Amino acid sequence: MEIDTKGKEMTENQGASMPNAVNPKELKDAKTLFVEDLKPGMRFRSYFIAKSIEVKQDKNGKDYLAAILGDMTGDISAKFWGITDEDKERFSVIQAGSSVKVEAQVQEYNHQNQLVLDKLRLTEIEDNIDMSLLIKAAPEDAKEMYDFIVAKANAMEDEELKKIALTLMERNYDKLQYYPAAAKNHHAERSGLLWHMKRMLMSGEALCGVYTFLNKDLVLTGVIVHDMEKLNEIDAERTGLATGYSKKGQLLGHIVQGVSEMGKLCDELGVSEEKALLLEHMILSHHYQPEFGSPKRPMFPEAEILHYLDIMDARMYDMEEAVQGVEEGGFSERVWTLDNRRIYKPMI
Ligand SMILES: [Fe+2]
Ligand SMILES: [Fe+2]
Repeated sequence: MEIDTKGKEMTENQGASMPNAVNPKELKDAKTLFVEDLKPGMRFRSYFIAKSIEVKQDKNGKDYLAAILGDMTGDISAKFWGITDEDKERFSVIQAGSSVKVEAQVQEYNHQNQLVLDKLRLTEIEDNIDMSLLIKAAPEDAKEMYDFIVAKANAMEDEELKKIALTLMERNYDKLQYYPAAAKNHHAERSGLLWHMKRMLMSGEALCGVYTFLNKDLVLTGVIVHDMEKLNEIDAERTGLATGYSKKGQLLGHIVQGVSEMGKLCDELGVSEEKALLLEHMILSHHYQPEFGSPKRPMFPEAEILHYLDIMDARMYDMEEAVQGVEEGGFSERVWTLDNRRIYKPMI
């Protein structure tokens, strides 16, 4: 079965704005082919983003290319069997984050679809790709998520914490609209940082109803500020595609950048030393372990719960992603961010 290429349709879609809440079904009407449309047996040409790509060896010692390809509707694993040294040389220009054109067949393997590639190359300017179609976006509209978070900040009783949260939201309004929360792992999608913040705020509020001794304003402010410096750690395009890490990001990272920015902001806003210190510690300790970037473990309950809110949201995101496209009763591929576990999709 030959399917229309995405590139052909893409020229018709050019200039169209891509709100986050775009319904992929509408694009299907325009005969555009996405990961979620793929069915076993299909043969097609289309465009994707390479999420990862590496040369591996099969049982017989022959080289093959293993890649994860993605678009705005999801990811799919792809194999290019039996590659030669010449192919390897040709493919070496393709890296994680590259946009590619493929010719492929869809096969079912281990209860999930995978692509067997026949042709693969980097996209060219003539392909006229609208990159926003290739990049996954958070499921909710960026402006609505932003407004939700600002409303939570506005509802705070503590005037100093409110001022910190609102100032950071306002100053970062533009970047927050499209920034992913990670270059590769959880929430590496357009507006992923807002999505991460919003769900953590929802969980945080719920848990403050259980552990009523927690200072809710402090927990919620911690959520809002904890990853804000990812906006300056990661380099990202307006499409939401992370292109790498900034110099500051590589040399310092969002935790150290966050602590230093928080100190400056509290000075500027005249926030009390105690609250400045609490927030600096929450940013400092939210990754929990030194090997993950936190030089100190959380030393008060609001900081402890911030870590759990953070890790819970990341894990749930990764698990939901992992079983997308897996049939009930089947297992996902191994997920590096989940300690190489394969995630099972229950038959219930
Ligand atoms: Fe973080
Ligand atoms: Fe986070």
